[in-house]
Amino acid sequence: MFSMFSNFWTPVLPIAEIGSAPVAVQLAGEPVVLFRDSSGKIAALLDRCPHRSVPLSLGRVTEEGCLECPYHGWQFASDGACTRVPLNDVKPAQLSKLSAIGFPTRIFAGLVWVFTGNASIPDLELPPSLLEPGDRYVIHHEIWNVHWTRAIENSLDYLHIPFVHRNSFGGWLNGVAQTDAIAQIQVHPTSTGMVVANRITTVPSGIELEWRQPNCVVVKFDLVDIPVRSHLFAVPVNEQQIRFVQVILPSPGVDRANFDFEAFIAPALEDRDMIESQKGEVPNTTDECNVPTDEPSLRFRRWYYRTVKDQGTNMSAHAANYRNLVGDSSLS
Ligand code: FES
Ligand SMILES: [Fe+2]
Repeated sequence: MFSMFSNFWTPVLPIAEIGSAPVAVQLAGEPVVLFRDSSGKIAALLDRCPHRSVPLSLGRVTEEGCLECPYHGWQFASDGACTRVPLNDVKPAQLSKLSAIGFPTRIFAGLVWVFTGNASIPDLELPPSLLEPGDRYVIHHEIWNVHWTRAIENSLDYLHIPFVHRNSFGGWLNGVAQTDAIAQIQVHPTSTGMVVANRITTVPSGIELEWRQPNCVVVKFDLVDIPVRSHLFAVPVNEQQIRFVQVILPSPGVDRANFDFEAFIAPALEDRDMIESQKGEVPNTTDECNVPTDEPSLRFRRWYYRTVKDQGTNMSAHAANYRNLVGDSSLS
């Protein structure tokens, strides 16, 4: 399960989009249903009823805050525990054998985060710029037809700006790219990824980027006096699609009502058009030509092939908990 992206915390959707009805999403190839329990906590379950595999997202949330399957009315709590099986005399001890698969959730930066596994759950370590109250962020998300690794690689790549963004914020750099200027890309490894300092010799300053494993790139506009910090997430939907999520934190003092956030959101469409032309995941480090300025990309690729590729979560331990109660002597 989640074999393309297992055992990671990732944002999935803005919490503002989870109302009283269950919401179906696809995450790393798996169907997931999000819903609010009676306390308002956001729950995430595998969107597949353990009884007859109907999507639980087609059901409803009960007054008690359980998710009710539309087919035979089984009910599940926010952790997946089965709480009711209508018209069957199922003892409380037996209900635990009928649970749905639940995933840990957290709320940060106005987003619902889900852990793509259900064992050995690590802390969700976020940069300070994602720990502000949720209403401080401007969030935009959309589906792109690209593998998530190509989107992260693109977000870490400074030298596409003069070309892909020549008609927006990169226009002036296009002129620089026609000269003999040289880019200096300095990579500083961190415990959670890397910081990439970008500079072009004839240009006074460049934008610093930070990759936060697995799927976030922080664009530190604020370090060069542009009053926002942008967080780009490539959330895997499946092998062919991502949900591209932009989480923009305006600097203190910014007049949000009159600030042009669209100027930061819209150029991503230029990235989308470029990388949707690439097919499949990033190849291993020897399979395409590389130059010194590709070091961030190569580091990401090495990490991806070493850490992520084919490291699917083993859910068999959980699956073994499924029980067929028919013929179970404890039923009688
Ligand atoms: S399929 Fe869900 S209760 Fe039967
Ligand atoms: Fe770009």
